[in-house]
Amino acid sequence: MSNSYIIPNSVLDELRAIVGPQGYYDTVVDIEPFLTDHRRLYKGNTALVLRPATTDEVSRILNVCNRHQVGVVPAGGNTGYCGGTAPAEDGSQIVISMAKLKKIRHVDPLNNTMTVEAGCVLAEVQQAAESVERLFPLSLGSEGSCQIGGNLSTNAGGTAVLRYGMTRDLVLGLEVVLADGQVLNDLSGLRKNNTGYDLRNLFIGAEGTLGIITAVTLKLFPLPRTHATALIALQNPTAAVNLLSSLRAASGDSLTTFELMPRIAIELVLKHIQGTSDPFTHAYPWYVLMEASSARNDSTIEDDITTSLATAQEQGLLLDAVLANSEAQRSLLWRIRENIPEAQRVDGGSIKHDISVTISDIPQFIKEGTALCEQLAPEGRIIVYGHLGDGSLHFNINAPAQATQVARAAFMNKAESLHRAMHDLTAQYHGSISAEHGIGRLKVEDLARYKDKVALQLMRDIKRTFDPNGIMNPGKVLKM
Ligand code: FAD
Ligand code: MLT
Ligand code: ZN
Repeated sequence: MSNSYIIPNSVLDELRAIVGPQGYYDTVVDIEPFLTDHRRLYKGNTALVLRPATTDEVSRILNVCNRHQVGVVPAGGNTGYCGGTAPAEDGSQIVISMAKLKKIRHVDPLNNTMTVEAGCVLAEVQQAAESVERLFPLSLGSEGSCQIGGNLSTNAGGTAVLRYGMTRDLVLGLEVVLADGQVLNDLSGLRKNNTGYDLRNLFIGAEGTLGIITAVTLKLFPLPRTHATALIALQNPTAAVNLLSSLRAASGDSLTTFELMPRIAIELVLKHIQGTSDPFTHAYPWYVLMEASSARNDSTIEDDITTSLATAQEQGLLLDAVLANSEAQRSLLWRIRENIPEAQRVDGGSIKHDISVTISDIPQFIKEGTALCEQLAPEGRIIVYGHLGDGSLHFNINAPAQATQVARAAFMNKAESLHRAMHDLTAQYHGSISAEHGIGRLKVEDLARYKDKVALQLMRDIKRTFDPNGIMNPGKVLKM
């Protein structure tokens, strides 16, 4: 498909001139990685990928695009799960890669804040905080490649939400380029500022549909010096929910992570991921990876957790537990949890659901969801795991082991009916059909179906106010 029929060459030249010869890709080979999303759900076309290095360049680009009504797709680390970064098939949109905006602008350990540009990779942000003995707590399996701008735009969750909250909770200020090129400068390091509407929270989680985030002021926390990390074996999710409640009561807010995993997830990791091994000698039906941490340099936290786990075992809440006794063992336990998505991918991919319900509803939801999936796709392997401490589950169904291509295709054809059944169930529980991965292009129809109608109308009104020409990531999040 020839893209230049849709975006005039004169406009493409105007855009190239803003960033200079080192600031764009326009050959087939260079553009290729920007045409598809992480899960390869969509494959689009574009004539140009721009790679601005400054906020001013982003501003001038959007000004040109807005004047000529050219659609713009922001691209971060491209690890998102909902197809948010794939441009449209008709070639009518350009891509803006944020990878060159990657300065750590300012670190202020006294104020416990840092200001970084949107293209910084999450792991680099964590390291910059650590270099001044502070913690930036957002933690995801994709942290080696996702960008902080992408994290903000998806309001990412991850494995430390229980203690520190979602990405939204870690932000004090933003710099955003609006659709017409104006720059909203709200890079505040203030913790108190009640001066009108909270604009920054509109851009967080907007998936690039309201503007491009170019920089952010983040909250930092004391660097934990001691961790107590355990893999706990349990009979069922009810035991896990009760254990969470008793651990929280015993250890207060030191509990950082509480992740539920079924046996099948552990088996997939052991099978596909090198350097992993089962910490137990027996197989158990369910597991929890828990971690508590403290900025104090003493062993109190480990003693507290050991005592709490012993009490829980006496009460019959858990079957067995392994407490990490070295940093190497701690990372081994984490390796098991963090590699579940990769193990599922290697095993042949899955039909995914990213839902949340209240923590107290989790056991019954898992029961009913499992029954539904068994009825609709009895050949599938149900792998329910995730952030139990936040009421958030990845309710995935893998194709049968070693399925033929035909059997796999037949299984994947059931995706739509499984999504409908699982999302209807989630709605019955007043839950969310996207706990942490966003809407992107994948869940546009679902959002329209399940979101409160008044909320949807307000969202459309906001979109029209911020982006009257509809150039910002068109076709994502909202059906206009
Ligand atoms: P991208 O995929 O590049 O973009 C995501 C969306 O944001 C797109 O719509 C894009 O247009 C928009 N966007 C990107 N940058 C900007 C910007 N600067 N301004 C405006 N819009 C922008 N997610 C979780 O929430 N929790 C997890 O535990 C988790 N674990 C994961 C583990 C693995 C192995 C993988 C592959 C993914 C995981 N994810 C998880 C999903 C993903 O990593 C997150 O959604 C992440 O926040 C996306 O960041 P990114 O930079 O890759 O964004
Ligand atoms: C996770 O929690 O591991 C991710 O959000 C889910 C995934 O990567 O599939
Ligand atoms: Zn997750």
